[in-house]
Amino acid sequence: MSCNHTEQAPRVVEAPIVINRRWPEEGFTRIPAWVYTDPAVYKKEMDVFFAGDTWNYVGLECEVPEVGSFKRQWIGDRPVVMVRNEDGEINVIENRCAHKGAQICWENTGKVTDFTCPYHQWNYDLNGNLQGVPFRRGALGKGGMPKDFDPKKWGIKRLRTVNRGGSIWATFSETAPSFEEYCGPDVLAEIDHMLPGKKLTLLGYSRQLIPSNWKMYLENLKDPYHATLLHTFYITFGLWRADSKSECIPTGGGAHSVMVSHNEGKKKTEATAEMERFRDDLRILDAETVTPRKEFNRGRVGGAWIFPAAQFGIQANSLKTRHVIPRGPNAHELVFTYYGYEDDDEEMTRLRLKHANLLGPAGFVSMDDSEMLKQVQTGISGYPESVSVVEMGGRDTEPADYMVSEVLIRAFYKYYREAMGL
Ligand SMILES: [Fe+2]
Repeated sequence: MSCNHTEQAPRVVEAPIVINRRWPEEGFTRIPAWVYTDPAVYKKEMDVFFAGDTWNYVGLECEVPEVGSFKRQWIGDRPVVMVRNEDGEINVIENRCAHKGAQICWENTGKVTDFTCPYHQWNYDLNGNLQGVPFRRGALGKGGMPKDFDPKKWGIKRLRTVNRGGSIWATFSETAPSFEEYCGPDVLAEIDHMLPGKKLTLLGYSRQLIPSNWKMYLENLKDPYHATLLHTFYITFGLWRADSKSECIPTGGGAHSVMVSHNEGKKKTEATAEMERFRDDLRILDAETVTPRKEFNRGRVGGAWIFPAAQFGIQANSLKTRHVIPRGPNAHELVFTYYGYEDDDEEMTRLRLKHANLLGPAGFVSMDDSEMLKQVQTGISGYPESVSVVEMGGRDTEPADYMVSEVLIRAFYKYYREAMGL
């Protein structure tokens, strides 16, 4: 049977994303609430950042140890799969069948010999090449794909991928600079500090869904100021304090940042008087919870934010990556991946796992962050034209060597406005 419909199909023209908003005149010391709520802003961020000239964190090599080991992942709102092929190389491919677009991988982790889309069972090898199409030659002598159908043209897109010290990064862009150039020397030094070329061991994950815009989490990790006030646990037991020596370095034009603190333990100073939540009378029964064993970082904690959505850092003896997956304008997923080094002794592994309790969904510290981000999203959602003010530590974007500063947030919005054309 042939199709004799002659009427014209409706034409669809993709319109550019128009954002009818005006940034406050004061510039990057103000953040308008609509950046956290407007669906058009969110859509443009997915295109400009996650699908643009950025390098995105995908995972750790140790998560896919064997041929066929895979990990499902997201880059912005695009599903991808990290998988080790027969040559031992790690691929990052789109999690999307070339036929109708169904996700070919439905599990977070596992091991396969190939991928078969459940819908019409198109089958792909570990490099994303299309290997088989059921009924390609038809059935009972009828149907099938046209004779000139070329499976080579219908593989799954493989992303540009880089392995840095055992961490895997990918980009959808053919024009993005090299990973090294993208990160710049300061951020690269932080990644290399955490991943010095030793083989990594996977210790576990935690994940949570936070009802706030993804940029609020990014800001939270560019904000040492809140940590000295909100986090009772940090302040009281000396893990992060306003009077510690610290570094806040915006890099990559403000997109990335390095934020570290030098631990000085529990003590009372002039600054603790301002910290309402400092409790001199509290003692922790299990002191080990807040007492790291000395290792490579020599009491230096914190880490680097690698734009758009990853952080590498250390807290006590807990080594982890944090990854943010935007879930629409009003939510994001936060995933911690905890790891160790192959040469860790048993005692160190136990401490790395114990100190993992500081952060994560029920962490002694970061539980209060998730709650605050939810409260901010609720607070601003009905007031899209309201603005927040980020002037702590000045109105500039110069690196700061103290804690009570919002410089990294200002530097980020300087970058953001330009990249988004706002
Ligand atoms: Fe925090």
